[in-house]
This record gives sequence, structure tokens and C-alpha cells, in this order.
Amino acid sequence: MALVPYVENALPGLSKLHNSSAQFNFANHELRLAQDWKKLGVAAVVWDAAVVMCMYLELGQVELKGKVAIELGAGTGLVGIVAALLGAKVTITDREPALNFLSANVKANLPPDSQGSAVVSELTWGEGLERYPPGGFDVVLGADIVYLEDTFVPLLRTMEHLCSDRTMMLLACKIRYERDTTFLDMLKQKFRVEEVYYEKQRDIHVYKAWKLAYRKDL
Ligand SMILES: C[S@@+](CC[C@H](N)C(=O)[O-])C[C@H]1O[C@@H](n2cnc3c(N)ncnc32)[C@H](O)[C@@H]1O
Repeated sequence: MALVPYVENALPGLSKLHNSSAQFNFANHELRLAQDWKKLGVAAVVWDAAVVMCMYLELGQVELKGKVAIELGAGTGLVGIVAALLGAKVTITDREPALNFLSANVKANLPPDSQGSAVVSELTWGEGLERYPPGGFDVVLGADIVYLEDTFVPLLRTMEHLCSDRTMMLLACKIRYERDTTFLDMLKQKFRVEEVYYEKQRDIHVYKAWKLAYRKDL
């Protein structure tokens, strides 16, 4: 099922997805993200969840300086770029077809002294997880990645693989359909989940999640 209608001007609020770029000011930097909805679809536009996630990161409630972070389903890379500008070492991931566009955006938006703080890497949820260190990240970031029911099981497996019980996971979600809450229910089986921010205008929820410690029932 499509995330949003694909045709131009279907809904006035969605016309910004058809612009060739989107501009923001986060972490004291002017950012210009290239967009290409017609060619690459959902992975090549900046979604509201990413914007709200960056607003939340700017509030300073999540320590990013010196932290090792990974972003899932990064799309244009806005969140990963802002996390890098705020001091994290970030692995910015998406599926293979999205990577060239993503790499170009990351390169164009990080100043030379921050280029080493971000690497772009292929990660299709549930696949090739052995390439990523188990529990090896301080922070896991995901904006608008909960929308495809077929991906819920591999997405959760990916999160469990990347997180230790000391990892902070931050998810920014637009709850569009009932199935999206199904994922949150699945997540709560494995993670302690707390809603920490809600942006009313864009209707975006931000959740923090910590992996539940493994309990061996006797
Ligand atoms: C709605 S877009 C959100 C993009 C970006 N995080 C944002 O908020 O602007 C969803 C992203 O998830 C990625 N995605 C979808 N299915 C995926 C999968 N199975 N494995 C990895 N990434 C996936 C898409 O390529 C896309 O970049």
C-alpha cells in the first residue's frame, strides 16, 4: 500500500515532496537536501518525521557528542547529518537503490571537518546483519520507518541486533494506519518504550526505546 498518494498535488500538504530540494537550519547549519520523488519515491524526499526528529535532537535531550550512532531507513539523510553535526559518529543506512542519492546529500551538507563523522552504508532490514556489530551502537535513529507491514518482523530483528540494553533508540513516527500501532505493540515485547515528544502541527510522535534485558525464566 502506498504511503501517500503518488500523484502531484493530490493533497496540498504533500506538494513539498515534489520540490527538487528542501531547506532547513539545524545545528547552526544551513542544510539543503536534494529531493527526487519521481525517480526514487519515498527514499528521496524529506518526511515530516525527520524534521521533527531533528527538532527533538536540537533540544539536547539525547547526548550525541562522541556517541556511536546508526540511522535506519535514512532516505535523504537529514537526521544522520544533523546527528553528525551534533557530535555523533553516524552510520547512515538505507536500501541499495537509495544509496547514491543519500551519499550525495550527506557529502553536500557536511562541512569538510565533519565529513569523517558520517559513513553511508547499505542496510536492508533483517539482511546481512552480521556486517554490523551486535549491540554496537549507543544510539539508533529512525524517522518514518514504520509503515510497511511486511517489514515489521525484519525491522524489529534489526533493532534487536543493533541495540544492547544500554542503547537508546529514538523513533519519530507518523501513525497513519492501524497497522503502525501493531509495530509499536511488537516493539513493546522487546523494548521499554516511552513517548517523549509530540509535534501537533505535523502529527509526529517521538519515542525513546531501550532493549529489555534478557531474562532467563526458570
Ligand atoms: C518514509 S521514508 C523515510 C525516510 C527518512 N527517514 C525521512 O524521514 O525523511 C522510509 C525509508 O525507509 C526505507 N526502507 C523501506 N523499507 C526498507 C527496508 N526493508 N530496509 C531498509 N530500509 C527500508 C526507504 O528506502 C526510505 O528511505
